Amino acid sequence: MSGAHPLRVGIAGIGAVGGSVLKALQTMPQFKVAGVVGETVPVAMETLDRLGESHHLAMEIGELAECSDVVVEAAPADAFLSIARPALARARTLVVLSAAGLLDVYDSVTALLAQQQQGRLILASGAIGGLDVVKAAASGAINACRLVTIKPAAALASAPWVTDHGIDLANLDGRLLVFSGTAREASQAFPANANVAATLALAGPGPERVAVEIWADPVLDRNVHEIRIDGDFGEMSVIVRGRPEPGNPRTSRLAAASVLAVLRDLTSHIRFGT
Ligand SMILES: NC(=O)c1ccc[n+]([C@@H]2O[C@H](COP(=O)([O-])OP(=O)(O)OC[C@H]3O[C@@H](n4cnc5c(N)ncnc54)[C@H](O)[C@@H]3O)[C@@H](O)[C@H]2O)c1
Repeated sequence: MSGAHPLRVGIAGIGAVGGSVLKALQTMPQFKVAGVVGETVPVAMETLDRLGESHHLAMEIGELAECSDVVVEAAPADAFLSIARPALARARTLVVLSAAGLLDVYDSVTALLAQQQQGRLILASGAIGGLDVVKAAASGAINACRLVTIKPAAALASAPWVTDHGIDLANLDGRLLVFSGTAREASQAFPANANVAATLALAGPGPERVAVEIWADPVLDRNVHEIRIDGDFGEMSVIVRGRPEPGNPRTSRLAAASVLAVLRDLTSHIRFGT
């Protein structure tokens, strides 16, 4: 695609990730920002103002899908289908960050893609490392896949699992195991924190076969993800200690960078990795 007209990129969700992607795209001539979608049009306009980006257009998702070649989804997990549906119905490329949102409605999305036959969905690797190996490993048998996530306590405090169970994360005096279960359970209990678990599940052995632990740490200033996978290919263990985005302690900076890597791949004749 390089050398062609700029690729029109629409951004659905302009929080920590969407804002970073928006800023970065201005320096990349192969892309043109088609517009942005927020919780509502006035909220998106306010956000653009605050970011000093009010020259961009805020619009509804249907309009964004219409005028974009690629839609970047960077909104809360529960908004996932409201963004995916219009984008895929218009056969756009949808670049997804809310893996937990995708996991919840995976069957509806695959049905939509099968019906449409032209749209495509690319799940960005987000805050994770080693997804190339997990994908390749899924060609053979995977015996075990385990994820240990450790986040600053404040990044987990508003998760449904924490509030429903009355877990007090404000006064920890050491690291606390907050959750242990499958990737499917993690993505329901921590929709804003279990994207790595959902990504591993979708690319690898499935949501019931990824074992997840989530820990809260009172002093940590990184989002840590440790992945261990064992299969026909051999074994891999990877640890990523991601710096958080300034605008959202739950989110690693790597998430926006992974979206930019996907977009660069879409416009390049050369691709590295799987
Ligand atoms: N895959 C990964 O590894 C990974 C890593 C980080 C974040 N994420 C996910 O990516 C998404 C974005 O993360 P973030 O840190 O930018 O979140 P954020 O909370 O900083 O920003 C989300 C933005 O979406 C807006 N919004 C709310 N409802 C919307 C709707 N219906 N349509 C469009 N926008 C809407 C909010 O106003 C906010 O500005 C989240 O779902 C997050 O969990 C995934």
